[in-house]
Amino acid sequence: MSSPTSPTASAESRRAARKAVIPVAGMGTRFLPATKAVPKELLPVVDRPALQYIVEEAARAGLAEVLMVTGRGKSAIEDFFDRQPELEALLEKKGDESRLAAVRESTGIAQVHFVRQGEARGLGHAVLQAASFVGEEPFAVLLGDDMIDVRDHLLEHMLTVQRAHGGSVIALLDVGRENIDKYGAVAVEPADDAAMDGDEVVRITGLVEKPPVDEAPSSLAIIGRYVLAPEVFGVLRETPPGRGDEIQLTDALATLVERGEPVHGVVFGGRRYDTGDRLDYLKAVVRLASERDDLGPPLRAWLREFVADLPAEGASPS
Ligand code: G1P
Repeated sequence: MSSPTSPTASAESRRAARKAVIPVAGMGTRFLPATKAVPKELLPVVDRPALQYIVEEAARAGLAEVLMVTGRGKSAIEDFFDRQPELEALLEKKGDESRLAAVRESTGIAQVHFVRQGEARGLGHAVLQAASFVGEEPFAVLLGDDMIDVRDHLLEHMLTVQRAHGGSVIALLDVGRENIDKYGAVAVEPADDAAMDGDEVVRITGLVEKPPVDEAPSSLAIIGRYVLAPEVFGVLRETPPGRGDEIQLTDALATLVERGEPVHGVVFGGRRYDTGDRLDYLKAVVRLASERDDLGPPLRAWLREFVADLPAEGASPS
């Protein structure tokens, strides 16, 4: 992969990333009342928390050190990634090997660390809390609401682009113009990189957080995966509150672009589930369960019958 469009990228900024940051301080208002006492990141997708899939994804991409940026009411997340000796002893006594393995699995995926955000001042502010954990290295940020199918390799592709060009890399998805006002939107130009399994590489020329539909530079939205150069911390410290009076990561990335730092995008062509949205969450649970070896066959059989019996739209269910 050549990099004629990124003359400022130093060898240093092409170092391999080793650390992942996962902001988990969000309130989860879309799932109230369930999230009144349970962090939204721990809602089960089939039988494991959404957050476990995210940590597994980071570990698969070679990021074995994970920092979660937490907030009030999120201590259950720390418990989840901690050992549970009493539960393990009980399962061991019962000889329940498979559940014992499932319980131990969550603590062995990665080295998980925690830092508290204190006050919720936006995604940029959450990422800034990771500055001392990250130091002077490139690092990844994974947002918990976006689940990427285990068969797709978005983060690995982004890390490949960062190793080639240096700078920062963001994940993009074409969400259609009518939906772009819910996301960070980008202006892009072609990059000469080869596509990877259907994921296209582009160069970012501008970013704007949640623009009105008619002002959006494109229908390409930022989805919750970022590989960031450590220079982002200095920029975030100087980024004033933006949209929603919050310190926006999108605004800091826009500053990096203005300064001529390389920022690339990987346009994802695979399967993504927005588990922060109730309808998408339900679809993710059904889809992933129906593809599993254990639950899949009976669930698929039941789904076929269920769908065949569904009343036509507009008719009242019996
Ligand atoms: C955040 C970012 C936004 C991005 C989105 C992806 O917004 O600020 O740029 O498009 O994540 O999920 P939030 O969903 O936290 O409002």
